[in-house]
This record gives sequence, C-alpha cells and structure tokens, in this order.
Amino acid sequence: MKNILVTGGAGFIGSAFVRYMVETYPDYNIIVYDKLTYAGNLDNLLPVSDEPNYRFDRGDIADRETVRRVFDLYDIDTVVNFAAESHVDRSILSPDAFIHTDVVGTYILLDESRRRNLERFVQVSTDEVYGDVEEGFSTEDDPFAPNSPYAASKAGGEMMVRAYHVTHGLNTVITRGSNTYGPYQYPEKLIPFFTTEAIDDRPLPVYGDGRQVRDWLHVDDHARGIDMALHRGEPGEAYNVAGENQRTNIDITHRILELLGKPDTLIKSVPDREGHDRRYAMNCDKLRALGWERQTTFEDGLEATVRWYIENEWWWRKIKTGAYLDYYKAQYAARLAASDSPAP
Ligand code: NAD
Ligand code: DAU
Repeated sequence: MKNILVTGGAGFIGSAFVRYMVETYPDYNIIVYDKLTYAGNLDNLLPVSDEPNYRFDRGDIADRETVRRVFDLYDIDTVVNFAAESHVDRSILSPDAFIHTDVVGTYILLDESRRRNLERFVQVSTDEVYGDVEEGFSTEDDPFAPNSPYAASKAGGEMMVRAYHVTHGLNTVITRGSNTYGPYQYPEKLIPFFTTEAIDDRPLPVYGDGRQVRDWLHVDDHARGIDMALHRGEPGEAYNVAGENQRTNIDITHRILELLGKPDTLIKSVPDREGHDRRYAMNCDKLRALGWERQTTFEDGLEATVRWYIENEWWWRKIKTGAYLDYYKAQYAARLAASDSPAP
C-alpha cells in the first residue's frame, strides 16, 4: 500500500481521514479525488495543502474515463471511498444524485479497481443500512432494512462491493459508521446546523417529538476506525464503527443551547421527517477486536465542536449563502410556518 485514492476526501469525514493519514503515514501518498459538490470544500484540506504526500484532483467517481486517468496518473493501489450524497433530507427532496453517486459511482470505482487488481478497496458506509433498531444493537450480520432513499442508495453500493469481492475476488472492506460530529461538518446536519443557527438566535426546527435516538461518534474516532479496517480488516468483511453513545435529538439540542448560553425558546417542534427512523444503535466488538478504541467522550467532543464553530465563523458563514439558502427554504420554510409549539 503506497498510493491511496481517497474519494470524497474534501467532505466532512473524508477530510478528517485525509488530515489524519497525511500526518500519521508520511510514507503514503494520499490523493484526494472529489467532485466538489455543494458539500465538498477545499477549506477542509487547508491544514494539509502544503504537505508533500498530499495531492488533489477534481472529478466524479461515476465518470469512468476520469477515474481511469487518475488511477494511472498516481499509480493508485488502494481506494478508500467516502464519496457520496450524504444528507437524508436531501434524498427525500431529490434522490437522483444519490443513485448517481452512491450506487453508480461506487460501481464504476469497483469496476476500475478490479481491472487494476488493486490491493485494497474500502467502502465507507453507514448504520442506516440496518434501518430502525427499536431495541438492542445491530451487528454486522444483521439483515439490511434501509428506509430513506439515502440509506437505500448506500445499501445498494454495499451490495455491489460484496458482489465484486465474491465474484471477482477484489480485496474489499466495508465500514458502517454511526452519526458523526466534529469540526468542518456541512451545516445542514443536526449539530453544526443547530449550533450555527443558535449563534445567530434563529429557530431550531426539531422534527416531531425530538425523542429519536442517534449514536454519536467523534469524527477523529471515525477516521481512526476506518484506518483500522483499512490496515487490519479481513477481506470481504464489514465492520461497525459505533459511538456507543445514544442520545435523543432533544437532549443534544438542549446541550448545544446550554454551551452557547442561548435560551430554550429557540427550539421549535416542526412536522417530522418522512419515514424518520426512530433509533440507531450498533455493536462494534468486531472492530474493537482489531485494536480500535474511541478516544473522545461525547461531553468533551461536543463542547470542543461547539467551540470550533464559535471560533471558525470564517468557515461556515460563506457556506450559509446562495444555494444553501434555497435548500433551507425548501426544507424548512413550510415546516417552521406549520410549527405551533415552541418545544417538544
Ligand atoms: P459529505 O457530504 O460531507 O461529503 C461528501 C463528499 O463527497 C464531498 O466532498 C463531495 O464533494 C463528494 N462527492 C459527492 N459526490 C461525488 C462524486 N460523484 N464524485 C466524487 N466526489 C463526490 O459526507 P460525509 O458526512 O463526510 O460522509 C462521508 C461518507 O461517510 C459518506 O459515504 C457517508 O455515507 C458516510 N457516513 C457519514 C456519516 C455521517 O454522520 N456524516 C456517518 C456514517 C457514514
Ligand atoms: O447514522 C449515520 C448517518 O447519520 C449518516 O449515514 C448520514 O450521512 C448522516 O447525515 C446522518 O444521518 P441523520 O439523518 O441521522 O443525520 P441528521 O444530522 O440529518 O439528523 C440527526 C437527527 O436529527 C435525525 O433524527 C433528524 C434530526 N433533525 C435533523 C435536522 C437536520 C432534526 O430534528 N431537525 C433538523 O433540522
């Protein structure tokens, strides 16, 4: 393993992985390949932009010619695929891009990886493939039951990874991460969205009763989990990367407001997300057996994350303009207008 292509490396988790890999493995060449969609941001990679073992190339994972050119140009031997459309609400509004990238794009990457007989292909996936988990903890052998177009597109990508391992013997590993938070997260996801809205004293639209449960994982722990699977995972296997830290959305919302010194009156209960999964929770003993341990507690991680958004307005203020505001309007205008209760 020497020349690692990190697809989607300009996004939230991909860029954390790149920052970590560039520093941890000076002997590896880390090449980011990213389409720079609305969620891709070269500011996320500024901390490594001058490092000799880092390169960036722009392109679409579903564009076979460009993928092939990049594989040849950098003599790629390993792929870690983060590239995806990643936001559930957007997949409900307009699912086309999800099928294009998460399903077709994954297939193109796999097919080119097989042609070159790559040493390793890591697919970064999600706990959402297991669907709603009313009680207990999902393990890697549980059946898939994706409920949103996003989750279904990720499950489709995973099925193709499985097929390329079984049929073509490609050396694949899949990671399934839980809800991830930290710096540089696009402010459409719960924690950065609510933090940056609350800084500006704007309403926080909590879906439904706010009692949905997510399992929160710090982005640096997620990046280290993917590294562990990359280096030590068994070919053809999947590994859960869990926060083992289940919280309701409303508890997180109150904590963000507390950290910012803002009033609970900013909370608005709005009509629920369609098909909203009530709870995710995973067991991650399999990854732990490879040697992975989380290093960040949620209390410390959330506090540091909120502080990061307070101290880095340069990063998010320029995002929350233009097309972002069009999306905000499509997703929230009617919901907030329909909101008649202040807090769940
Ligand atoms: P993100 O939306 O922040 O970043 C996605 C990146 O992929 C962006 O840089 C974007 O430009 C790029 N991209 C999109 N389409 C592309 C294409 N066709 N070709 C090349 N690049 C393209 O996403 P994220 O939150 O960092 O998630 C990264 C991966 O981790 C995704 O596969 C996601 O499904 C998975 N995941 C995310 C979470 C989470 O909580 N955010 C949890 C578990 C798994
Ligand atoms: O579980 C892993 C998944 O976590 C990843 O695969 C996805 O890429 C990632 O986006 C995330 O999906 P969620 O839908 O769980 O994340 P989101 O931040 O959108 O929402 C978290 C919870 O907060 C969810 O129950 C919906 C709720 N929510 C979210 C937003 C944006 C609200 O109540 N109001 C909101 O405005």
